[in-house]
Amino acid sequence: STVARKQTSPLSWHLDTAVAFDIDGVLIKGKRTLDEGRRALEMLNGDNVFGKRIPFVLLTNGGGVTEAAKAADISRRLGVEIKPEQVILSHSPMQALAEKYSDKHVLVVGGVQHRCAEIARGYGFTNVSTPNDIVAWQPAAWPFMKAPTDKMLSQPLRDFSNDPFYAVLQFHDSFDYGRDLQIVTDVLRSRGGVIGSEYADHQVMPLYMSNPDLVYSNEYPRPRFGQGAFHTCLRAMWAALTNGKPLNYTLYGKPNKVQYQYAERVLDRMALQAAPNTDLGQVQAKRRVFAIGDNPAADIAGANGAGWTSVLVRTGVFSGPEGSNDPANPAHRVTDHVEEAVKWIIESEA
Ligand code: G3P
Ligand code: MG
Repeated sequence: STVARKQTSPLSWHLDTAVAFDIDGVLIKGKRTLDEGRRALEMLNGDNVFGKRIPFVLLTNGGGVTEAAKAADISRRLGVEIKPEQVILSHSPMQALAEKYSDKHVLVVGGVQHRCAEIARGYGFTNVSTPNDIVAWQPAAWPFMKAPTDKMLSQPLRDFSNDPFYAVLQFHDSFDYGRDLQIVTDVLRSRGGVIGSEYADHQVMPLYMSNPDLVYSNEYPRPRFGQGAFHTCLRAMWAALTNGKPLNYTLYGKPNKVQYQYAERVLDRMALQAAPNTDLGQVQAKRRVFAIGDNPAADIAGANGAGWTSVLVRTGVFSGPEGSNDPANPAHRVTDHVEEAVKWIIESEA
């Protein structure tokens, strides 16, 4: 195609503009890939009025896989090359915590647990366990599941009886709310961080969670519970167990500022790769970042809060008529889908 030909001759870059794509509900819906996504990325890869490539990142509250795996999956599904460094998952900024907890024992929760443990180890956490590791050690810790098999564990069977935890990190949606509510509340209130010891009257360690989405959009006709649904249950259980004490935690993921600051550093690195001798300060001063998303509470609120230009599409969580997006925090533009969003962005920047 023309774009493929253009990509063989290294196109120069238009660095005054950058685009952050949400994934679920914008480029894909669960197992379904949206055709408009392919065309939207091709426009940014050179098929535009500038005849140049426009830098873009994928900024998703999804997770539970490595950035490389997500990049490979979306590249395959959209037929457009996406590099791992362009992918920002809900937990990508949590890499910074690895320095603080490098050899400290942490509980990693969510997703296919041993896979999330490997992701954490890849970030530099060297002492990681999961709820399945704990239930394998003491099946009575959560009697409502079959004892985890060896391949479900993140490490050889481990004795936790005198092995304190120092933090709990949720990397992805819980695949077993009951087990994870039980184990997470146990760890958060066990004296000395040793699970099974008597309960303290306070939260004994920090909790970090990676995605506040109450709902998200997949191929089902109605939005589905996101990681934020688990947080709602966890807060309710914590209040019930501690006579109403608040659960303290640090939230990553859109709309939190940490995600946007991380994304801007990624765009900076992309600009320096595209034009090594460029003045980064000038690029940052001139760069207008557009965010395209389907969830007003995450994508639009986050982009607006970061001073970016937000574009809300109707293919996901939001499907309302024009102008009916959140009046308290409206998107700069509402479009039917992502291809229309990119067309508007390029027209706005030409
Ligand atoms: O688990 C992913 C979901 O919460 C939302 O993903 O790509 O729409 O930010 P995304
Ligand atoms: Mg989305």
